[in-house]
Amino acid sequence: MANIKLNRVALIGTGFVGSSYAFSLINQGIVDELILIDLNEEKANGDVMDLNHGKVFAPQPTHVRFGTYEDCHNVDIVVICAGANQKPGETRLDLVEKNVNIFKGIVEQVMGSGFDGIFLVATNPVDILTYATWKFSGLPKERVIGSGTTLDTARFRFMLGEYFNVSPSNVHAYIIGEHGDSELPVYSLADIGGVPIMKMIERNDQYKIEDLQPLFENVRDAAYHIIKGKGATYYGIAMALVRITKAILNNENAILTVSAHLDGQYNQKDVYIGVPTIINREGIREIVELELNEEESVAFHKSAHILKDILAPHFK
Ligand code: 2OP
Repeated sequence: MANIKLNRVALIGTGFVGSSYAFSLINQGIVDELILIDLNEEKANGDVMDLNHGKVFAPQPTHVRFGTYEDCHNVDIVVICAGANQKPGETRLDLVEKNVNIFKGIVEQVMGSGFDGIFLVATNPVDILTYATWKFSGLPKERVIGSGTTLDTARFRFMLGEYFNVSPSNVHAYIIGEHGDSELPVYSLADIGGVPIMKMIERNDQYKIEDLQPLFENVRDAAYHIIKGKGATYYGIAMALVRITKAILNNENAILTVSAHLDGQYNQKDVYIGVPTIINREGIREIVELELNEEESVAFHKSAHILKDILAPHFK
């Protein structure tokens, strides 16, 4: 028993996103222990009870318990979903001031426990807060990961799948850049079952090049539509976080468009931004450098500069 390596995750913030993550995680039976940490202890304890009661129906048992920052000392991943979220009409970037301050306190307390694992950040603006977590923690950049454009890429694959009437699992296409208004689609490299989508459009009158821009805008603006409808987004991001957690804990070497620190890749430095990366037990093993076309490259640099301009007053 003593030699068995248990997978442990601590979740900080049990609001809509955090509790949906916990729910999805235990339903997929990925971890041995899940520790819920929240300033609102009653809420976190309520979630612990609720989730434990459903455990009998899960594919594998997950030990769910309430915890404090001290409990982070021997967990594999700390997932941060805490912080203020977008109100209708607010952009993700409007949240910078509030959340950078909240993160300083959180990350210092986690590191104070002796934590030496991987941070997975979901709170918006996620690229900025992932950078903040990296700075505040002092951990190697490979072990600080943001959800980035993992969800946007999933939305993109879903919408392309609907358009071409093919399962999204056979659609290979990425959204990269800021998780927010300046993100971009990499249409030049998108394919379905090995056929470039540009070829599919050429070959079949049913598909039109003019449809691609509005399709992307629907992806980019999806969160605004959801927030208008129900006040917040949480299921999609929670499932994206579980996917990243699984890629880490199962040492998958899976390619996911997380927010990663660039150090010369894509001709950018010192910024966290959504790009395809290879994820395994060590965190970010490698950044995949796509051959972007001219237009995509310009849009990517513009997005990186938007993020750098926001980082500058806080971290220089
Ligand atoms: C989302 O894209 C709001 O970032 C959140 O769903």
